[in-house]
Amino acid sequence: MLENGGKMDDTVRAVANPTHARWEANAEYWVKIIREGRDRYRTELTDRAVLDAIGPCEGLRILDAGCGEGYLARRLASLGADVVGIDASEGLIDAAQSVPAGHSGSVSFTCASVEAMPAADEVFDLVVCNHLLSHLQDPAHAIHEFGRVLRPGGRLVMLTLHPCFYTENSEHGAMTSVPASKYFAARGIDQHFLVDGLESPSMITSWLRPLEYYSATLRDAGFVITDLREPHPTAEQLRSDPWWRESFPAALFILMIAERR
Ligand SMILES: C[S@@+](CC[C@H](N)C(=O)[O-])C[C@H]1O[C@@H](n2cnc3c(N)ncnc32)[C@H](O)[C@@H]1O
Repeated sequence: MLENGGKMDDTVRAVANPTHARWEANAEYWVKIIREGRDRYRTELTDRAVLDAIGPCEGLRILDAGCGEGYLARRLASLGADVVGIDASEGLIDAAQSVPAGHSGSVSFTCASVEAMPAADEVFDLVVCNHLLSHLQDPAHAIHEFGRVLRPGGRLVMLTLHPCFYTENSEHGAMTSVPASKYFAARGIDQHFLVDGLESPSMITSWLRPLEYYSATLRDAGFVITDLREPHPTAEQLRSDPWWRESFPAALFILMIAERR
């Protein structure tokens, strides 16, 4: 599946990524957040939405693009998929590789940029980007790469921050609107992660682009958008848990599904 025959290749470690150093500095923090299940947006909302969008995946060849420490790749492998995780952070890939295999499908991890992947053309049935796009200043290169490595008819599932409503500190209850002058430009928000009271060592820039950017970029890369969802808490979550009422002041996430023509 990968150009080197599917083996993890430690020589593929030269990653040209402006946020690379920041993610390297945050790697240990991120492993803790994910492995201790501290990010309630994921554990109670977006993971379910992504798995639901992927659907049955036994036997599928899946690329987890920007896989982080690998929890989603492992989950998909446990459902019978053959998964390759790619991430630019050496620290996160080392953490992903340190978890012993034990799945019905297969899983492997490679350190590389999603903008220039060491993978052959048309080898995947599905590419999933779980909370990746907002970490790319211009996702057009990556989206073209996803079009290259997906087979015709293959699907791209992308979960990211909602470009219409996400603003600085939305997670902490801030509700401000996005003026047109900012919405139609690339918006970069610099902030530390603050998850369950734990702050990340390094600041991260979250990039947001208007919806028309995504539709045009996907079209130019040979995709047709087949579904668009906005994962949000259930009425029961909002009624029974004040955390959701405070921490979901606006639509924070968007999930796009596109098919490679
Ligand atoms: C918010 S984390 C999400 C990680 C994982 N998908 C998850 O949900 O836990 C964003 C990830 O994108 C990775 N990343 C950022 N730019 C990248 C690039 N150009 N190529 C590959 N990975 C990249 C970071 O290293 C980081 O692991």
